[in-house]
Order: sequence, then C-alpha cells, then structure tokens
Amino acid sequence: MVFVKGPGLYSDIGKRARGKDYQGDQKFTLTTYTANGVVSILHFCFLYFIFCNFSMGAITSSGTKKGDLFIADVNTQLKNKNITTDVKVDTNSNVYTTITVDEPAPGVKAIFSFVAPDQKSGKVELQYLHEYAGISTSLGLTAKPIVNFSGVAGNGKAAFGTDISFDTATGNFTKYNAGVSFTTADLVASLALNDKGETVTASYFHTVSPLTNTAVGAELTHSFSTNENTLTIGTQHLLDPLTSVKARVNNYGKASALIQHEWRPKSLITISGEVDTRAIEKSAKVGLAVALKP
Ligand SMILES: *[C@@H]1O[C@H](CO)[C@@H](O)[C@H](O)[C@H]1NC(C)=O
Ligand SMILES: *[C@@H]1O[C@H](CO)[C@@H](O)[C@H](O)[C@H]1NC(C)=O
Ligand SMILES: *[C@@H]1O[C@H](CO)[C@@H](O)[C@H](O)[C@H]1NC(C)=O
Repeated sequence: MVFVKGPGLYSDIGKRARGKDYQGDQKFTLTTYTANGVVSILHFCFLYFIFCNFSMGAITSSGTKKGDLFIADVNTQLKNKNITTDVKVDTNSNVYTTITVDEPAPGVKAIFSFVAPDQKSGKVELQYLHEYAGISTSLGLTAKPIVNFSGVAGNGKAAFGTDISFDTATGNFTKYNAGVSFTTADLVASLALNDKGETVTASYFHTVSPLTNTAVGAELTHSFSTNENTLTIGTQHLLDPLTSVKARVNNYGKASALIQHEWRPKSLITISGEVDTRAIEKSAKVGLAVALKP
C-alpha cells in the first residue's frame, strides 16, 4: 500500500487481498522508466495476436484472421517541481491530460483532468491525506455535475470509510459504499457494503512467513438480490529473493496464476495465466508483462 502512515483513501480498502498484478486480459505491457523524470509507457495490446490467444495447444482461428496485430497507446509524463503532467494518446486520437499538483498545502493533492475532444470530460479532484483521515472529492466540470466524495477516518490499524456519488442532474445518489478495515503487522481484514447495500464483501490477507513473503488471502462476496456467493482464495510465495509466484481460484472454477522474476534490479518480467476450469478449451488466457527501470 502506498500510504503507510494514515488510513489512506477509500479505494485502498480491500486492495491488498484482491491483488492487481494479474493480466488475464490478453495484454502485453512494456514499461520503461528513464532517469530524467520522463516516463514513457507503451502498452501493446496484442488483442488478436496468436501469442495471447492460444487455447491449450490449439491456436484459435481469430488469432490469425485479424489484420490489426496490436494497438499501441503512448503515455508521457513530465515532472516540474510539484506539478506532474500526464498525457496519453490512444489509437482513436483521444488525448487524455492529467495535471497533478502535489502539496499546494500540506497533505493536499489537486488533480485536474480532461479528455480532448470530449468537452464534458473535465474533472477536478482534491485529495487530502492526514495521519487520521483521507478525503477525496471530485467534481465534473459541467453545468450539472456528478459529485463524488470518499472519506476514510482511522489510523494505520483500523479505518472506516464511505464512498458516495451524487448526480446533481437527477438528484440521485448513484453510489454509496461503506467499509471498514483492520491492519496488523501480518494481517489485513476488511468488510465492505457495496452497490448501495446490494453486496457485502469480506476480505482478508495474512502474511504467513515474512521471510519468504508467503501470504494467503481470501475474499467472499455475497449478493443480497441474487443470494449468490463468490469466494476467491489466493496465495503468494517467494521462490527465491528474485522470483515470486501467486495463484488464486474462485468457487466458479476460475483459476489464475502468475510468476514474476526480477531479472535485473527493479526490472520485472511477469507471466500470468487464467483458466476457467469448467471450460478449459475455451477460456485459457496468457499475459506477459515486462517492466524495465534503469
Ligand atoms: C512541494 O512539496 C513539498 C513537500 O513535498 C512542499 O514542502 C512544498 O511547499 C511544495 N512546493 C510547492 C510550490 O507547492
Ligand atoms: C465519480 O465516480 C465514478 C465511478 O465511481 C466515475 O466513473 C466518475 O468518473 C467519477 N466522477 C468524477 C467527477 O470524479
Ligand atoms: C433517479 O433519477 C431518475 C431520473 O430523474 C428517476 O427516474 C429515478 O427514479 C431516480 N432513482 C432514484 C433511486 O431516486
């Protein structure tokens, strides 16, 4: 987690148990970091590339049919003192601009973002991080904006938070979520009520052995409307100081695993796979990610 001292932001609740390294969506990501503060990120989406589309030994026909081999996005980041400007151009020539002002006042971060040519995309976000609180408010730059608010109170050990979205055009709350989390040296547990109280999610992440970075995690989601439960359990382990493995499976038979190796200081190669054990021939996916840092 990024914010070690305080409770962090609402979006951090439950994040660790979930894990975000998995790349099941047939994506090839190459990240390069250069020393002079300019970060160039190239996302190659080999959506229809044979490499990513193999299904257990058989190459699917869609892999060779398509002419467009990959889609590339280009990201650029410029840093000047406390102001960071991110510009991203996608294949449809949309330009995503994000300007972040760090610490105009202690603990405050202001984020302005817009997408050209979409005129309704302008957004202002203010974040405030304090030892005992984390607040984030955002507002669309339109006549009748959507207002988002999230707040977390607590400390590094226990936190309580809420996440609300209000549509000023209809006068409706479009979202309200609430959650609590507990963190000790070797355990993170959280409980969240999401989708306007429609689902409840409990998650926990337990470090079994700090030496080998071995941990287990579980997440249970119950939906009140469909009365369905989704249980995901996962584990991670350090094979050697430079190589780690992670695996997870849910009660619907979907299993993912990844292996990550630091082949040079700070440079990671990640290979991940996902399979629906109930339909193996149809569903196998493999992703590869390489991150290079000087
Ligand atoms: C930049 O950030 C530092 C702390 O990270 C702060 O002390 C300083 O006042 C900030 N400067 C400006 C111009 O915002
Ligand atoms: C508010 O939150 C929703 C989803 O949580 C997001 O899609 C939307 O862009 C946010 N709006 C603003 C103005 O931040
Ligand atoms: C939200 O607003 C729409 C449009 O005004 C309305 O039809 C709907 O009933 C509202 N929903 C709630 C939950 O208030």
